[in-house]
Amino acid sequence: MGLHQLIYQSHSLVPFATPELTALLHQSRAYNQAHGITGILLYTPDGRFLQVLEGERDEVRGLYRRIQTDPRHYDCRVFSEGPCRQRSFATWTMGFRVAQAQDLRKLLRSVPPDAPGLLVPRPPTRPEVLALLLDFVANIEPKPWQEHLQ
Ligand SMILES: Cc1cc2nc3c(=O)[nH]c(=O)nc-3n(C[C@H](O)[C@H](O)[C@H](O)COP(=O)(O)O)c2cc1C
Repeated sequence: MGLHQLIYQSHSLVPFATPELTALLHQSRAYNQAHGITGILLYTPDGRFLQVLEGERDEVRGLYRRIQTDPRHYDCRVFSEGPCRQRSFATWTMGFRVAQAQDLRKLLRSVPPDAPGLLVPRPPTRPEVLALLLDFVANIEPKPWQEHLQ
């Protein structure tokens, strides 16, 4: 089975404080490493998440199903999902950055949100959207308290 990539956004139920984010990332990285999943998690101070998950299709879908039912966030919406030739975040078991809300909104304008489920087939991420996302992530400096999360 080939490589698969899924990008979704959601809203946190309550704002995540640093210790909660740290715990989430530690837990996620252990699981993702064991299951061959890479990607990035963006979080904005007003409580929005955007996550890229990449790996074997069943692994990515299985993880997304668990994430989707996590009570710590709601309104999960998949932007794109499909096969990909290579990983965009190959070296990150789950990269993490805090993004400014207005910057993320600007980025998301080029990616219309879709329904939350996995049943509807969706196009894979357009290369230009992925390029935008990679550029976006590369230009966010990690905050000092995040350095141990790199
Ligand atoms: C925004 C967000 C992103 C998450 N990303 C991951 C992830 O990449 N990997 C992971 O194992 N868990 C992730 N989780 C945690 C899962 O939702 C879930 O709590 C975890 O997989 C444990 O699942 P279980 O309680 O069914 O064992 C994330 C949770 C949230 C709220």
